[in-house]
Amino acid sequence: MSLPEVLVNEAHLDQVLTDPSPRLVDFISRVSSPLVLLGAGGKMGPTLAVLAQKAARAAGHKLEVLTVSRFRNPDARAWLESQGIRTLSCDLLDARAVAELPDAGNVIYLVGQKFGTRQSPAMTWAMNTLVPDRVAQRYGGTRMVALSTANVYPLSPVALGGSVETDALTPLGEYPNAAVGRERILEFHAQQQHTPLALLRLSYAVDLRYGVIRDLARSVALGQALDLTTGYFHCIWQGDANEMILRSLSLARSPAEAWNLCHPQVVGVRETAEQLGALLGRKPQFVGTESTTALLANPARICAELGPPAVSMETLVRWTADWERRGGRYLDKPTHFATRDGQY
Ligand SMILES: NC(=O)c1ccc[n+]([C@@H]2O[C@H](COP(=O)([O-])OP(=O)(O)OC[C@H]3O[C@@H](n4cnc5c(N)ncnc54)[C@H](OP(=O)(O)O)[C@@H]3O)[C@@H](O)[C@H]2O)c1
Repeated sequence: MSLPEVLVNEAHLDQVLTDPSPRLVDFISRVSSPLVLLGAGGKMGPTLAVLAQKAARAAGHKLEVLTVSRFRNPDARAWLESQGIRTLSCDLLDARAVAELPDAGNVIYLVGQKFGTRQSPAMTWAMNTLVPDRVAQRYGGTRMVALSTANVYPLSPVALGGSVETDALTPLGEYPNAAVGRERILEFHAQQQHTPLALLRLSYAVDLRYGVIRDLARSVALGQALDLTTGYFHCIWQGDANEMILRSLSLARSPAEAWNLCHPQVVGVRETAEQLGALLGRKPQFVGTESTTALLANPARICAELGPPAVSMETLVRWTADWERRGGRYLDKPTHFATRDGQY
């Protein structure tokens, strides 16, 4: 797939995010309908839904994509409907409403709550444990891919290249522990009901409107000092993440397995900020020095199964710097990637 030099506006960005690869087009023809996306009103769901629909159309496969969320962001709902995607408003904490959701051929589970945990830890636990309980009971036996996070791991030595899936899930902080709860509850029900399930431990998704590379570009452009203590991270172009999420339906197994999902390159904060600075004509400001540990999750297993992500870090840095220079939209949802105590 040929990639553009830069992304000129949001329509172009959304088009590139939702352009299916031949591999996805081939795969989607074996995905039975309807494909239900739960928690689809957030940052990833809308482009994921449209990607699935475009792949199915390209394959000549009749696949209904049904998106379910509370749709607190009406723009997400309006955009999905403008693309011909069916939306269903539902609070997935409401057990009765969940019981009435339509049957699914396949489910992608995107629901989660991270930010605001410090102010309302009980809500974070409810969203990350009660919702999975309800959903897993409703869709027991239906093939499911569920999003988890690299936050389920503790910080690990950078020199080791990241935690692997068999490492102990002993993170610090309430959100990361609630995210462990999300996995364990889905895994428990999957065991009980023989549900084929893949748990994807995603590191930072990068869309030019948000994500760790955009956060770095903002800081460099605004002349804000970057703390180097968390000196390294993993991330992935959101288009690649969405594509791999869909193809991970092939990894859904009983008993369930977990898979780290990100680009395999360990990315340095200092080096990336310097590259962004060179493209933006600004000298990055730094404080502190790199710790020997960081939140990293090695994606070797998923890359061996599905192939590596298509978009390189060099491309992401170039696209992001250009987007920043153009004043491209910023969602103002910072990743807080430098957090080391698990408090969000
Ligand atoms: N984006 C990343 O960089 C990243 C990195 C690591 C892991 N992940 C994981 O990937 C998943 C998807 O990522 P994302 O960035 O799209 O997350 P997100 O922006 O937080 O979207 C999740 C959506 O779930 C919906 N939701 C939450 N509670 C709900 C409820 N009770 N009923 C119905 N819908 C509910 C919300 O949409 P409504 O307001 O419309 O209900 C929310 O926007 C997340 O769960 C996260 O754990 C993402």
